[in-house]
Amino acid sequence: MAVRRLAPKELQPASFAFTAENLAWAKAQMEKYPPGRQQSAVIPVLWRVQEQHDGWVSEAAIRAVADLLGMAYIRVLEIATFYTMFQLEPVGKKAHVQVCGTTPCMLRGSKDLIEVCKHRIHHDPFHVSADGNFSWEEVECLGACVNAPMVMIWKDTYEDLTPELLNRVLDGFEAGNPPKPGPQIDRQHAAPVNGLTSLMSDAKSGSASAPKKEPVLADAEPKKQTEAANVRERPAPKPPMGDATATNPPKGDKS
Ligand code: FES
Repeated sequence: MAVRRLAPKELQPASFAFTAENLAWAKAQMEKYPPGRQQSAVIPVLWRVQEQHDGWVSEAAIRAVADLLGMAYIRVLEIATFYTMFQLEPVGKKAHVQVCGTTPCMLRGSKDLIEVCKHRIHHDPFHVSADGNFSWEEVECLGACVNAPMVMIWKDTYEDLTPELLNRVLDGFEAGNPPKPGPQIDRQHAAPVNGLTSLMSDAKSGSASAPKKEPVLADAEPKKQTEAANVRERPAPKPPMGDATATNPPKGDKS
């Protein structure tokens, strides 16, 4: 992962001011926390600032957030430089592409996605494309490993990518018509790629497509050793009611 530092001085604006709307929104977030705990709103407020400030947070913006929340500047700087969700220098106007390069995504082809970024956007990460529309970087796991490889653009993830599919995603951003986030193949969320293998019955209608159900066995029946929990031995036969005295003779009967 790249070292995360503030943008050089020449890129830093002299000041930052919240818009009236964003200031009201930030204050509403602060009110969600008990008195004296307003600092807990730092991440959502920083995110809002980033959205206002063309997708990145400047040093002046970090100071403005710290002043609003009553925090030391260094504390907000620590947060902004720790989380890769915060950009520290100008990014592409239409998309900043964060390519996950951690092991599951790497094994599933993230290197090929990085090649797409290198050829289509800029050879190096954190450089804006010639038209100013795109930038990219490699990041650590973004929590969608099941659908590896994937990228995050702004708030959304685009998953199950190949180089062709990533190009299609970028075409959508280029045209101002981003594709639907999530898997870019015919997969429902993180369900198996070849279709569902469980939970296939329609609970309400009990449709014919429901898998055959095993008989439900009572807990009183002992489970067979080495078998699944629902496979039980036939219970031991109980003696006939009339024979109860044979196995449990009344007290005092010595015969
Ligand atoms: S390894 Fe890529 S999302 Fe987790």
